[in-house]
Amino acid sequence: MIETLFDEDYLRDPHSVFAGLREGRPVFRTATPQGVRVWVVSRYEDVKAACTDPRLSKDFTNNPDMIKSNELEGGDSSGYEAVVPHNMLFVDPPDHARLRRLVGKVFTAGRVQALRPRVEQISAGLLDKLGPEFDLLHDYAVPLPAMVIGELLGIPEEDWPQLIKWSNTTIEGAVLDPEVVVRAATEFTTYLAELCEARRAAPADDLLSAMVQAQDEEGALSGRELVDTAFLLTVAGHETTVHLICNGALALLRHPDQLAKLRADPGLLPAAVEEFLRYDGPVSTSTLRFTKERVTIGGTEIPAGQLVLVSFLSANRDAAQFADADRLDVTRPAGQHVAFGHGIHYCLGAPLARTEGVVAFRHLLERFPGLRLAVPEERLSWRPGLLMHGLTGLPVRSS
Ligand code: HEM
Repeated sequence: MIETLFDEDYLRDPHSVFAGLREGRPVFRTATPQGVRVWVVSRYEDVKAACTDPRLSKDFTNNPDMIKSNELEGGDSSGYEAVVPHNMLFVDPPDHARLRRLVGKVFTAGRVQALRPRVEQISAGLLDKLGPEFDLLHDYAVPLPAMVIGELLGIPEEDWPQLIKWSNTTIEGAVLDPEVVVRAATEFTTYLAELCEARRAAPADDLLSAMVQAQDEEGALSGRELVDTAFLLTVAGHETTVHLICNGALALLRHPDQLAKLRADPGLLPAAVEEFLRYDGPVSTSTLRFTKERVTIGGTEIPAGQLVLVSFLSANRDAAQFADADRLDVTRPAGQHVAFGHGIHYCLGAPLARTEGVVAFRHLLERFPGLRLAVPEERLSWRPGLLMHGLTGLPVRSS
């Protein structure tokens, strides 16, 4: 009987745990190690419905009781303002559209397309430095998206290592000392605020300058909102893509037949990236939502004022939606998965993530015809916490 999702059994094999929940308790009431109650939604149809239900809110600033529940992230409510930023991911309509529109205006498909040669270059540069044995996570999958988002936003190259540290600390919130998290978030936003001011004084050809300009033209965003949006883009743009690359690489190493198919036909790469996202995506559960009033999800009644997490990882393995859902199939027709979320908070960076994924896997396949694990699979470990689903390291040999 599953009691909690905050234990070793879950980390070792979340897919089995979720299979049990989808079958027996599709809307599962559990508690964090700190004793905060939370409901976890695991079936595909329920996940999609919950993501579009206006009775589920993401705006915790309107709900003081929920702010107290910040203990869920290991923090106390005094640090709440610093940790939960004023950006599109943590607001409801109509503010959501206002905050998202400004970024959408400047973070266009054309900008992502134009960035592709730099993604290729950054990826090739990282791979050039690798010896016969390396850690795919630390030596490649972590720096690649950090450098790409740094380049996109216009963060000076010498600051990229610091950016990685701040971003890691912020996302590790659930397992770190809250003070450390608040300090990192504060330093990071102070740094971004200064950079915004520098770009206002002297615009450059980067996303941050474009956002500052759009803010000045429209006057639709406060200074705090602008900085917190840059913060969101940095963290969301970095942490997730790391695990698309590593979870996908591990899936291929575990399935030599699928690896062989992909090597034989690199035209399958875009479909394969979609399948990696479905099969073992980087985001396990959504960010927190809360019920503004009583709601019924999948036949289970959830009272008002409760915390809800929807599991994208689980939805993507739901046999009611995907034929042979537990099988990795790089030829599976794309579409339908919810690895990028669903509804108004659907991932704004999906086109960039897909570009990075396709480039990364093409380079890895081309460069390392004999890629294999450098340690027995049992030695791999998964990072703690419910939000992200990713390894702590992936030691490999190139031949
Ligand atoms: C939102 C996944 C990469 C920016 C989301 C959400 C998911 C997600 C599941 C919705 C969360 C929720 O509803 O609680 C992913 C995955 C990625 C990825 C799996 C990589 C494989 C990126 C990148 C960027 C980005 C590269 C930016 C450069 C955002 C933003 C939001 C978001 C801004 C908030 C959208 C909103 O609230 O309207 N992402 N993401 N993501 N993502 Fe991503």
